[in-house]
Amino acid sequence: MSLLTWRDDMSVGVAKFDDDHRQLVDLINELHDAMSHGRGSAALESVLDRVLDYSRAHFKSEEDLMREYGFPGLEEHAADHQKLLEQTETYRERLTQGGRMMSVEVAEFLVEWLRTHTRDMDKRYAEFFADKGVV
Ligand SMILES: [Fe+2]
Repeated sequence: MSLLTWRDDMSVGVAKFDDDHRQLVDLINELHDAMSHGRGSAALESVLDRVLDYSRAHFKSEEDLMREYGFPGLEEHAADHQKLLEQTETYRERLTQGGRMMSVEVAEFLVEWLRTHTRDMDKRYAEFFADKGVV
């Protein structure tokens, strides 16, 4: 896995959400950096805690805005948020219980999240919010 770079084609057109998404890129890169220095396991707890804080706040912001403007895909989108949150909570719980956990598994999960949710699913609201004049 190589370091991720934010690219303009990842923009969803809503500045606040782009800023949020950059935070996820930074968290993945932080984990990647720790792994490449042999400190992946040590970094996992802190990274997972911040991914949880990040996702709870960010998902709520997205869903609140969708609700406010009546975005038709809200239900499906919120269900995907819930799935990502639950998987992250499961990883965090496993760590608390002292379970064996590979940082590479978490890193792969986060990269997949960035690819399928942030870069694919979040794009579905980009045009909708642009039409409503939300920037
Ligand atoms: Fe989302």
